[in-house]
Amino acid sequence: MPCEQRQIVLGELPQGALRPEHFTLRQGPVPSPRKGQILVRTVLLSIDPANRAWMNGPTYRPQLVAGDVMAGYALAEVVHPGDSGLEAGSVVFCDTGWQEYAAIPADAAVPVPVQSALTHHLSALGLTGMTAYFGLLKIGRPEAGETVVISAAAGATGSVAGQIARIKGMRVVGIASSREKRRVLEEDLGFAATVSHRSENFADDLGAACPHGIDVYFDNVGGSVLNSCMRLLNEGGRVVCCGSVSTLDRPGPPCDPELVPMKIITHRLRVEGFIVLDYLSEWTDAGAEMAGWIADGELRVLEEVIDGLDRAPDALIGLLAGQNLGKRMVRVGPDPGEKSMR
Ligand SMILES: NC(=O)c1ccc[n+]([C@@H]2O[C@H](COP(=O)([O-])OP(=O)(O)OC[C@H]3O[C@@H](n4cnc5c(N)ncnc54)[C@H](OP(=O)(O)O)[C@@H]3O)[C@@H](O)[C@H]2O)c1
Repeated sequence: MPCEQRQIVLGELPQGALRPEHFTLRQGPVPSPRKGQILVRTVLLSIDPANRAWMNGPTYRPQLVAGDVMAGYALAEVVHPGDSGLEAGSVVFCDTGWQEYAAIPADAAVPVPVQSALTHHLSALGLTGMTAYFGLLKIGRPEAGETVVISAAAGATGSVAGQIARIKGMRVVGIASSREKRRVLEEDLGFAATVSHRSENFADDLGAACPHGIDVYFDNVGGSVLNSCMRLLNEGGRVVCCGSVSTLDRPGPPCDPELVPMKIITHRLRVEGFIVLDYLSEWTDAGAEMAGWIADGELRVLEEVIDGLDRAPDALIGLLAGQNLGKRMVRVGPDPGEKSMR
């Protein structure tokens, strides 16, 4: 066990766009776990828009503070389980932060029974896959034949949400930036149509792709894309408020009730937010259903792994700019049982 480790610190809170200068790489001590804590070794860091959202203010967790090790979810190997009952060498999902080792409360570590490629437990069978599953099925509650529109459709959450909707018999329209992302959605993942939010004619293109309006809009991005989708929602339509990635790098508008559009009232819309961690107790069952779809070839997993803790800042900045296809993660160390970095 080394005494020192590498850590990435959030040196300064961004006021606008996130830049590499907001982070610093440093050497720090490997912590000794206190009572009730376990020591874990970070294997794969989850790169999430939430990392950026946590810098902007309190969310479902306190705002990040300049000088702290950057926070972030990860798959990690249990090194010292203490009296937690966890096995040394087993895998847990937890907030390790952007560092090689972390001492975390034992009750904040979610055991991961590895049944697939480890990376799948961060993507389709992990945080973002579960977000897609519960957001679509519990919040959106779509019915067969309905039109479901997904933004950031070629991303980690969107690519899974769209495929679940397709599997369940809905007509799925994806919103993504690039031609290549749209090609993957239509040719590989079975989306009925796609639209680019970067098109000058985005609103018209979206209308043409949804001739019968929108029944469920799975919103990953907020902003002007949300506005365009709102205009097309049918009576009784639902908006799954999953995330607002388009607004993270700029100061948000005030959260005033007067901004609630009349259409929510006149069209009996349901606009509902959720946090996937609220469904933790149901992840195992959902994961079993998703694993079945993956095994049957019905659900394709899009993911990309970037090697090296030092590349985490660029990985996050690139994700916010739409450079990712599917789930983006950073490999910090080898899988349990493997000797060295791949
Ligand atoms: N509620 C929850 O519990 C929960 C849990 C996990 C994630 N989320 C949210 O789910 C959303 C997706 O997260 P993810 O991890 O799956 O990320 P992701 O979709 O893999 O990556 C983010 C994507 O957002 C798109 N994007 C960036 N700026 C945009 C803009 N201005 N307009 C439109 N699209 C833009 C980019 O795709 P393009 O290239 O297509 O623009 C980019 O690839 C995020 O809002 C995240 O906060 C919520």
